Amino acid sequence: MNQKIYQRIIFDTQGDISRVTSEYVKETFDVTCDQKFSTIEDYVYYIDNQCLNTYFSKIWQPDMKKWKYSGLKLVDEVNSLNPRSVLDVGCGYNEFKGKIHNLTGIDPYNDRADHKISIMDFQPNQRFDVVLCLGSINFGSRDKITAEIAKTVLLLEQGGTMFFRVNPGVNHDRPEARWILFFAWNVPFIIELAEQFNLKVLDIRDDANLRKYFVYRKI
Ligand SMILES: C[S@@+](CC[C@H](N)C(=O)[O-])C[C@H]1O[C@@H](n2cnc3c(N)ncnc32)[C@H](O)[C@@H]1O
Repeated sequence: MNQKIYQRIIFDTQGDISRVTSEYVKETFDVTCDQKFSTIEDYVYYIDNQCLNTYFSKIWQPDMKKWKYSGLKLVDEVNSLNPRSVLDVGCGYNEFKGKIHNLTGIDPYNDRADHKISIMDFQPNQRFDVVLCLGSINFGSRDKITAEIAKTVLLLEQGGTMFFRVNPGVNHDRPEARWILFFAWNVPFIIELAEQFNLKVLDIRDDANLRKYFVYRKI
């Protein structure tokens, strides 16, 4: 759960759900909420999703050229693996489409995705030789991140490769990103996940803008 949003609601309402009105939600989070929920957690989930939607559908813009390892360089790197299928999780504007072979882009908030869906809701009838998670498994709590990693591992073929770009918890500058919870990725967590999900760490590097680039193989 997004603790930034949860803590703010608890602070403002002292836990009294009747004070979580549509006016309060609009004023505090700039989110339209015409529904009534029976728990504060449900409000948090809804507001979090709306904030992510506003930011990633209207405000955030990509810049693939700025990445040393996790941008355009991946085109040749992934194609050299001759993948039969590639999944781009959180593809944004789907910029690898037509450049990386056999690629499907999913994203819950961007209309350019092949499937407008989140990683947790995506139920394909195949596995993928390569999965890209470039800045997209980075929002919310440790539990949410771990569940999303578990799902990507499930979608990856045995012996398949996953490429990541992750944020160490740095907020984006725009005010619309204020309520987004950026998970603070770090190297010990990358290694811990590898052990938990039986993955081999093939590479870890510092990319631009304090981001980490790393590569897993499913063994
Ligand atoms: C920082 S952008 C990166 C986009 C693109 N991968 C790139 O490198 O330019 C993060 C993307 O992750 C997407 N995203 C957020 N939550 C997601 C989820 N649960 N499942 C899949 N994609 C998600 C956002 O909509 C956004 O397009």
